[in-house]
Amino acid sequence: MPKYYITTFGCQMNVHDSEIIAGMLETMGYQKAEAQECADLVILNTCCVRENAENRTLGHIGNLKSLKEQNPDMLIALCGCMAQEEGIVEKIRENYPHVDLVFGTHNLHQLPELIHKVTTTGSRVMEVWDSEGEIYEGLPVKRDETYRAWVTIMYGCNNFCTYCIVPYVRGRERSRRPEVILDEIRGLIANGVKEVTLLGQNVNSYGKDLEDGWNFARLLREVAETGLYRIRFQTSHPKDLSDELIEVIASHPNVGRHLHLPFQAGSSRILQRMNRQYTKEGYIDLALKIKAKVPDIALTTDIIVGFPGETEEDFLDTMNLVEKVRFDGAFTFIYSPRVGTPAAKMEDQIPEEVKKERLMRLIDLQNRISLERNQALIGTIQEILVEGASEKNESRWSGRTSHNKLVHFEPVIKVNPGDIAQVRICGAKTFTLDGELLG
Ligand code: SAH
Ligand code: SF4
Ligand code: F3S
Repeated sequence: MPKYYITTFGCQMNVHDSEIIAGMLETMGYQKAEAQECADLVILNTCCVRENAENRTLGHIGNLKSLKEQNPDMLIALCGCMAQEEGIVEKIRENYPHVDLVFGTHNLHQLPELIHKVTTTGSRVMEVWDSEGEIYEGLPVKRDETYRAWVTIMYGCNNFCTYCIVPYVRGRERSRRPEVILDEIRGLIANGVKEVTLLGQNVNSYGKDLEDGWNFARLLREVAETGLYRIRFQTSHPKDLSDELIEVIASHPNVGRHLHLPFQAGSSRILQRMNRQYTKEGYIDLALKIKAKVPDIALTTDIIVGFPGETEEDFLDTMNLVEKVRFDGAFTFIYSPRVGTPAAKMEDQIPEEVKKERLMRLIDLQNRISLERNQALIGTIQEILVEGASEKNESRWSGRTSHNKLVHFEPVIKVNPGDIAQVRICGAKTFTLDGELLG
């Protein structure tokens, strides 16, 4: 049997796309390789959201050259968001002759016929559709975990935040039909899945393109009422987060007590330049309203520092928002200009040293708050979904609370990945908790 090896960069969308790629390959008779060196087909599923993501990928492709020299029959393929980027196909064609196949996010479903084309003609194939087509349902999915699953509910993004390349590489918003999503989830439950994460670039705009009055709040309610043990979703955009959705979260305890709500910048002037469609005050009011209606919710966020034109005063607005909302965690990024986006053409780009210095101050502040938020859980009893043993230390297991916090514990009684267990929180670090397993 031929063997495949997939390396995935980027967000959960890409992780889930890789599960579909694996599903298609296994249907074709491929088997997963233990290591890249033993594979007949190597696939890189790429991300281009920031320049460093792209550079890492290009480095990785460069490294594959010697592997291909040792094994000339090996096929090397590149797909994902980078493949959709302007100029990349030409760059690969000219500078990376060892790459045999390039396909985009819009024509993932074509993979079997594209592989057939490469193997039968022996020539390189570069097939990247410019724009999204219809949604292809029914593609096979190969999931590694048996107890939790990603389910895409919508593709693409219509928001065009001025810094972001995602709408250009993922196309416009397209919602999957609710009955298809619910069927998939019922099937997963029947196979023992306990946790499903609903995925989309902006899940709150789910259903806007469907005709029969569906919205995300309604979908989430229906998913929660399937009886699934735990439901998560990402990502939410503050401008579309409705009271109805907050109500559905509050009234369904099986919806995880965690909301990832990127705010990006604290200054209303910068938010406007980013085309985020809310103000600093609007975001704070929304976050405090959610905390009031769902008191045990954990809030996490994404923040960009050094957007063009960001002054020290603007940055202090970001720091101030972080202090006021007290997030449980944050992904913090240095602004990275992306060719083709409006912000890359803005004149007042911020010097790298200033961006780095701001990032450090922001991380220090958020780490202090994350630790305090975690310390507040010491002494509480939390229900966790067990994930498994740590790779390095078999006596150190982990699981996640409803807040999506990782708890480390010793398996003093036998537990398995996918079990539901109770732990008493006995220690807190910035990013994790320590717990005693109660059974
Ligand atoms: N759709 C999601 C996530 C998109 S990408 C959302 O809107 O929240 C994930 C994160 O990458 C974004 O939230 C943003 O914080 C960051 N990001 C996107 N483009 C970026 C850029 N050009 N430079 C730095 N960070 C960026
Ligand atoms: Fe990018 Fe904004 Fe869309 Fe998120 S909402 S994917 S940040 S354009
Ligand atoms: Fe990256 Fe594409 Fe996700 S650019 S962040 S992999 S949608």
